[in-house]
Amino acid sequence: MYKIFDTVDDVSHYTAQRLIAKITAKPTAILGLATGSTMKPVYAKLLEHMQQTPLNVSQLTTFNLDEYMGLAPQHPQSYNYFMYEHLFNQLNIPAQQIHLPDGLTSDIEAVCSAYSNAIQALGGLDLQLLGIGTNGHIGFNEPNTCFSSRTHVVELSEQTRIDNGRFFTEQSEMPTHAITMGILDILEANEIILVATGHNKTDIMAQLFDSEIDEALPASALKKHKNLTIVLDREAAALLPEQALKNAI
Ligand code: F6R
Repeated sequence: MYKIFDTVDDVSHYTAQRLIAKITAKPTAILGLATGSTMKPVYAKLLEHMQQTPLNVSQLTTFNLDEYMGLAPQHPQSYNYFMYEHLFNQLNIPAQQIHLPDGLTSDIEAVCSAYSNAIQALGGLDLQLLGIGTNGHIGFNEPNTCFSSRTHVVELSEQTRIDNGRFFTEQSEMPTHAITMGILDILEANEIILVATGHNKTDIMAQLFDSEIDEALPASALKKHKNLTIVLDREAAALLPEQALKNAI
């Protein structure tokens, strides 16, 4: 299902409301969370709504999609830092219920399998929030990642290093590898919301619309999912065919 809104503000409001609805219906929900520029206004809206209408988040459990290899949680570009800055510092979710892959581990295999196992042991993700890379990645599952993948280490693609390198003082500081939840971990979530905004997502959203389910375009795996909402602003939806826009609410 597509939801298309005029502005980023509307997209973020809608997405925040979906999160609030999930947390209200199930205060013990297991949430899969994403970082990135698309999520900043979503988390800001969520916090804004919560100031007006307090929500009990103390029983939530969260699993982030990914983390750069080699960055400590205190590094301003680490995803751990991002999540605390934009969300967790303002919420009273107990620290032991917050999970991000450990980008500093020397035991990659153990950390990866423990991450996917921890999600499954809790009964799986109730809701997974996703952004999308300009190359169609979800989490850091780059093109040609196996759709049956679990949490694993990836070498970041050239495109991703260019897209995300802008946040680092020097492009050369941008990590080459990351740990990401696998595509299968993502697909097992009960509900998925993919959010894309802005003109740099226009092409990939048109490609995704047209694509078969194909490992060359990781986000196309989502077409198998029974409860997927794709939330776009007008810019990201600009090249979608009439048919998609007509069905969008
Ligand atoms: C981040 C993540 C990535 C981003 C994607 C889009 O945790 O998993 O897949 O969602 O790279 O990033 P932005 O929103 O910065 O365009």
